[in-house]
Amino acid sequence: MLYRLQVLATVWLSLTLTGSASAQTPAIDKGTQVFAAQKCSICHAIAGKGNAKGALDTIGSKLSPDEIRQWIVDAPAMAARVNATRKPAMKSFASLSKDDLDALVAYLQTLKKT
Ligand code: HEC
Repeated sequence: MLYRLQVLATVWLSLTLTGSASAQTPAIDKGTQVFAAQKCSICHAIAGKGNAKGALDTIGSKLSPDEIRQWIVDAPAMAARVNATRKPAMKSFASLSKDDLDALVAYLQTLKKT
């Protein structure tokens, strides 16, 4: 929890100081790597790369960090909650380490409507 607050504070600081999301903090860099390593782009796209049916470019405006986290750790429950019907369905990525999960959430929550 404390770690997450630190990640949030870091993200907030970097956004505030630079006015853009392009100045990447280490956690966010790591999040982009986890996203690539877990092959999320088979079903999702960010910045035009990946599966356009599941664009995540504004996910940080749509979902809270906790909701993003829930999708990653328990996708079937979230899919049931929002009646997601797209196939193939998302499986849970429950085996991610806490660090990888935190970094992935930190990264995704920076993707906001501009
Ligand atoms: C096998 C395909 C598949 C893979 C791989 C996959 N997802 Fe998903 N994901 C889905 C589907 C289907 C949904 C339901 C919403 C939709 O239709 O896009 C979804 C929903 C989500 C949502 C909520 C989207 C929203 O608009 O509310 C997030 C966040 C998400 N996925 C993140 C991830 C991340 C991060 C990874 C990699 C760790 C990943 N997904 C891997 C298929 C996938």
